[in-house]
Amino acid sequence: MLLDHRAFRRFVNTVAIVGVAVGDVVNAMAAEWTTPVSIEPRLLGVYIGDTRYTGELMEQTDIFGISLLSERQAHLAHLLGSWSGRALDKVAEVGPELEWGSVEHVPLIRGAQAQYECRVHSRMVLGDHVLVVGAPVAARITDRAAPLLYHGGTYHRLGPIIPKTGG
Ligand SMILES: Cc1cc2nc3c(=O)[nH]c(=O)nc-3n(C[C@H](O)[C@H](O)[C@H](O)COP(=O)(O)O)c2cc1C
Repeated sequence: MLLDHRAFRRFVNTVAIVGVAVGDVVNAMAAEWTTPVSIEPRLLGVYIGDTRYTGELMEQTDIFGISLLSERQAHLAHLLGSWSGRALDKVAEVGPELEWGSVEHVPLIRGAQAQYECRVHSRMVLGDHVLVVGAPVAARITDRAAPLLYHGGTYHRLGPIIPKTGG
């Protein structure tokens, strides 16, 4: 196979934080592979690597939270995406930037662009990731700030709008 691995770093993604609570254990991780998968019904998919502590916890509950970060929150993506909850109490580090869902007991990021409280709809193992599909029972826009973008291992913000007729 002729796989140039640099070709897989050409995607541009928003950055979500997936949060989960099991008993007294609360954890959250960055997940750029978070995407809508259905409009009717509304469904969101998150791809969780098979070594993630978050994934281990998600196997033990049927609810989880998704927070879409704003361009002001790269520090949270870095913190929650660079250390495992097995080694560090990340939620304690995030402190007051974490809040709880209003419908489900799921951890969310305060001041994120948007928050979703999800019930697990289905799970599918795909290579070294598990696709967990969530049905949101609550969704809200919490901050009108622009989204945080991730591209080739670095954070970015949206640029100017390109006219539909070409730039
Ligand atoms: C910006 C960013 C995006 C990431 N996106 C994903 C992702 O979509 N899926 C995934 O499994 N890991 C992703 N990661 C890696 C996890 O967030 C990282 O391995 C984290 O430490 C896992 O934490 P946990 O072991 O506490 O669950 C991402 C990391 C960063 C920094």
